[in-house]
Amino acid sequence: MKPTSAPRNTPRTYRVKSFGCQMNVYDGERMAELLAEQGIAPAPEGEEADLVVLNTCHIREKAAEKVYSDIGRLVKAGKAAGREPMIAVAGCVAQAEGEEIMARAPAVSMVVGPQAYHRLPEMLGRAVAGERATDTEMPPIAKFDALPARRKIGPTAFLTVQEGCDKFCTYCVVPYTRGAEISRPFKDLVAEAQKLVEAGAKEITLLGQNVNAWSGEDDKGGAQGLAGLIRALAAIDGLARIRYTTSHPADMDDAMIAAHGEVDKLMPYLHLPVQSGNDRVLKAMNRSHTAESYLRLLERFREARPDIALSGDFIVGFPGETEAEFEDTLQIVDDVRYAQAFSFKYSPRPGTPAASMDGQIAREVMDERLQRLQAALNRDQLAFNEASVGKTCEVLVERRGKHEGQWLGKSPWLQSVFIESQAGIGDIVPVTLAEAGPNSLKGIALAQG
Ligand code: SAH
Ligand code: SF4
Ligand code: F3S
Repeated sequence: MKPTSAPRNTPRTYRVKSFGCQMNVYDGERMAELLAEQGIAPAPEGEEADLVVLNTCHIREKAAEKVYSDIGRLVKAGKAAGREPMIAVAGCVAQAEGEEIMARAPAVSMVVGPQAYHRLPEMLGRAVAGERATDTEMPPIAKFDALPARRKIGPTAFLTVQEGCDKFCTYCVVPYTRGAEISRPFKDLVAEAQKLVEAGAKEITLLGQNVNAWSGEDDKGGAQGLAGLIRALAAIDGLARIRYTTSHPADMDDAMIAAHGEVDKLMPYLHLPVQSGNDRVLKAMNRSHTAESYLRLLERFREARPDIALSGDFIVGFPGETEAEFEDTLQIVDDVRYAQAFSFKYSPRPGTPAASMDGQIAREVMDERLQRLQAALNRDQLAFNEASVGKTCEVLVERRGKHEGQWLGKSPWLQSVFIESQAGIGDIVPVTLAEAGPNSLKGIALAQG
């Protein structure tokens, strides 16, 4: 028997709240487009929506817990206002814990996994009829074919080119929540990129859990990797910048290194997570690189594109990590000098091999290691920004700043740059970088003419 609740009115407004990685944000945008196509309008800022989609992330503990507190808050606010919103839980927690959510949170009408959200309109019909619906199937490509065309967007856009992961790092839930690696077809991606540019995008970030594992066939039937796709996208008039994230060291090839040296539209920025600087830990994580092979790879990128900004991800306190092993992570940070990086405390994820490994590390030890690592990463980020002072570059304006006449955009190296000029959103403004802080720079617009 299907779980039921009372029939409800068809929602008139929606809000999608995304909590995860960029691909999760991309999924959120596509769900919003689907709902808009059903005639449901985005809820105005500050107003309660009739339908709330919680687009969740499962990567670390807090991310997953947040969904239950959010549901609680929505129910409370709804009761106070005399009209409870319809709640859909989407994203990676929906995939991993769909049944548990349905059992634990009666206020939830729909649970929809990241590979099934193209079926949201049909589920919505069932929810309106009073049925509680779960869909966490994983039909890989069907989703993209079933989604509506892209609508008007800002100057920067995401484009999912690859999904899923076959790497099975021992700490990570992604292979379970996103399924096996699949690549979207070349021609679909070129077509979607073209649509995005027509809709106003100047910069496209290609997304994938292992984006550099993308492979496909071009229109002449030739085998292509990510570098080939990037070269094809670079031919689109009106597209100024291409970025991609996240890459895995094992899938990097010579063609990607060459592309960084040759394709002007490919921005000088590489996000290449290492996770740890210690080879025993890397092996226990099931990462296929060593500290040295990783450093050699980065060296080759720097040879091809000397100004490339490097970024990475780190986990401290993986089970069994000793103080000396952690110091190897500090060492690799000293060796690389990252422009920017993300660092996390290890979080045991249900069902992953590392969660049941011996030697789980005490929280205080993790806290202390994370602090030391972040101090080193912050030092390097500031140093990178300071070393940019005096350079001229182009800034793609993304939004207004806090003050009148102030604009905020990104440098080619993905730094946030504040400029004061007669700019508008979507403009590409040549600037001299004048002042550097840890998280942003000030740019002086160059006289154009
Ligand atoms: N596919 C990408 C992104 C994975 S998730 C990649 O392989 O790099 C983003 C980051 O979250 C990872 O790089 C890792 O640093 C972190 N992460 C993943 N699982 C984690 C866990 N169980 N605990 C702490 N951090 C984790
Ligand atoms: Fe997770 Fe590893 Fe896959 Fe990245 S490569 S998504 S960290 S399993
Ligand atoms: Fe989170 Fe899923 Fe992305 S677990 S990081 S939303 S792939």
